[in-house]
Amino acid sequence: MDYRDLSLIVESNKTKPGSVGWRSPSNLAIIKYWGKHGVQLPRNPSISFTLETACTNTWIDYKPKSSIDPNVSLDFFFNDQSNEDFKAKVHKFLSGLTEIFPFLKQLHLTIRSTNSFPHSAGIASSASSMSALALCLCSMEKNLFGTLQKASEFKQKASYLARLGSGSACRSIYGGMAIWGVTSEVASASNEYAVPFTELNEVFKTYHDDILIISKGEKSVSSRAGHELMDSNIYAQNRYEQARQRFRALLSALKTGDIEAFGKIAEAEALALHALMLLSNPPFMLLKPNTVAAIEKVQQFRNDTRLPLYFSLDAGPNLHLLYPENIQPDVKRFIDNELIQFCENKQYIQDKVGSGPIEL
Ligand code: PMV
Repeated sequence: MDYRDLSLIVESNKTKPGSVGWRSPSNLAIIKYWGKHGVQLPRNPSISFTLETACTNTWIDYKPKSSIDPNVSLDFFFNDQSNEDFKAKVHKFLSGLTEIFPFLKQLHLTIRSTNSFPHSAGIASSASSMSALALCLCSMEKNLFGTLQKASEFKQKASYLARLGSGSACRSIYGGMAIWGVTSEVASASNEYAVPFTELNEVFKTYHDDILIISKGEKSVSSRAGHELMDSNIYAQNRYEQARQRFRALLSALKTGDIEAFGKIAEAEALALHALMLLSNPPFMLLKPNTVAAIEKVQQFRNDTRLPLYFSLDAGPNLHLLYPENIQPDVKRFIDNELIQFCENKQYIQDKVGSGPIEL
């Protein structure tokens, strides 16, 4: 896929100021992407639930620059406050996209962003923020040039761009579940962008994902550094093969609605991700004592009640609780009575499978 397009330049004197906005969700991978190569290309296929509540809202106001300047020019406001850290990150990202969108050098951008989840909840926001930004860029292209009229083309390009910002962000473009990475199971799957998973059994379309906020602190090792450590991890090749096998088994469970098989794979993947961190050189650990305590409670609850409550983890200490809609009251009671003690400030987010980004 080559999205470089030198014809996407505006006529400054004829270009009117405009505004675009998108609300885009975070996602939770069930088969994890951990290890990459080239320009944000995954070592194994991954598949995730797109969430509903944990979202980023992003608006871009654009206008032709008043003076000629070869750089990307922007202001960035997070929660209505100017934010220099985020500005620097977004500036770097957009500066890398000027062959795809040459018009970025011709406009001044005012970018405003807010998260629907608490800023300090320790929730990774790169998937929601990068996908929201990528969707806004595609809307700008559409407004300025009348291109990307077909929804499928629009989404594919947005997913490609989101991937360049943060690999896992490419999956947030689609509601339900999305697949990223070449696999013999899905002919349309690609390493460069995500595709929607269209054969999801009904039971998974309303699946819940409650996120226990075990710790809000900054992670000691970033995802970027974690991916890099896979290059020297002596278990890496076996891990990529394991992910491919589990991907196949998971797809079959997702099609047939086998929630037990689904849950077992979800837990095994979460623990594999953290085991890879422990096996890195140097090793690192993102789990906290309360993560482990909550995991034990979940497994005990499952044994005692026979209810299909399973967990997953992202690259952090917070525990994701995965369960079908019909046991929601039981799980709510269990969280409030037994799990909330492990959450920082008793905080948890009730989320579920969502229908994907919406234009604002
Ligand atoms: O997209 P990144 O580079 O932040 O990596 C995310 C990796 C995991 O969240 C741990 C797994 C995944 O597939 O989302």
